[in-house]
Amino acid sequence: METSPELLRVTELKKTFFDANESKTVLDGISFALSMSDSLAIVGPSGCGKTTLLLMIAGLLPPTGGSVRLGDDIIESPNRKIALVLQHYGLFPWKTVAANIMLGAQLQKIRVSDTELADVKRELSIEGLDHLYPDQLSGGQRQRVALARAILLRPPLLLLDEPFAAIDTITRERLQNGLIAVFNERRFSFIIVTHNIEEAIFLGRRIVVFDNRTAGINTVLDNPGAGDLGYRNSPQFFRLSLELRSILEGLT
Ligand SMILES: Nc1ncnc2c1ncn2[C@@H]1O[C@H](COP(=O)(O)OP(=O)(O)O)[C@@H](O)[C@H]1O
Ligand SMILES: [Mg+2]
Repeated sequence: METSPELLRVTELKKTFFDANESKTVLDGISFALSMSDSLAIVGPSGCGKTTLLLMIAGLLPPTGGSVRLGDDIIESPNRKIALVLQHYGLFPWKTVAANIMLGAQLQKIRVSDTELADVKRELSIEGLDHLYPDQLSGGQRQRVALARAILLRPPLLLLDEPFAAIDTITRERLQNGLIAVFNERRFSFIIVTHNIEEAIFLGRRIVVFDNRTAGINTVLDNPGAGDLGYRNSPQFFRLSLELRSILEGLT
């Protein structure tokens, strides 16, 4: 099996929130690595620290302990090699779809050719929406516009925080297929946070299950079949779904 160079290494990451008179350790002893052109799904009960982890990896929230390394860089502030797509899209309602898609690249002064722009729109099936505004789009379309904006930054690492939550199942699977299509075409790495079992298995070549009782990692599942559009119908997919379901049932 081919091995890719390491892209990201998270080492003994810890986060404690200090409020007026109490402290709460949400994450403790979190360690994992991610290779180039690889994917990881993070699953765990609501409130276990998944968003907190992504914010720390993105350099937006300082850890209480441990480190995040991307290649040779220690991440302590936002880095243009990492793009984060948040739960609520982050589109500007007063800008058109075309302007929203290009916004990130413009801010970072990244040149995007017409061909590349057309390719990304095609891969994500958002052609022909340029003149619309976000509130004229469906939830699924908004999510794809947000994804297109992040992909045009050509980040080696894409962080996705429950990007397809609150979207109906069929549209959701279409979006997952779109993500896999751009992933296979462009070979970035991504981390997706989700509490949808099938989504984690379809998208994550490794699945990390967080444990809210220990603030640590409960289980890591290897899932080399992820990334193939036909994977949903395979026996391996069903077997892993059952396994992941029983792990999660033990946690909540
Ligand atoms: N800025 C903050 N101050 C205090 N507590 C926080 C802060 N951000 C998150 N938390 C708490 O940390 C825990 C984990 O939050 P979060 O990472 O959003 O969980 P998840 O994304 O897994 O649902 C929650 O109990 C949340 O209330
Ligand atoms: Mg969250």
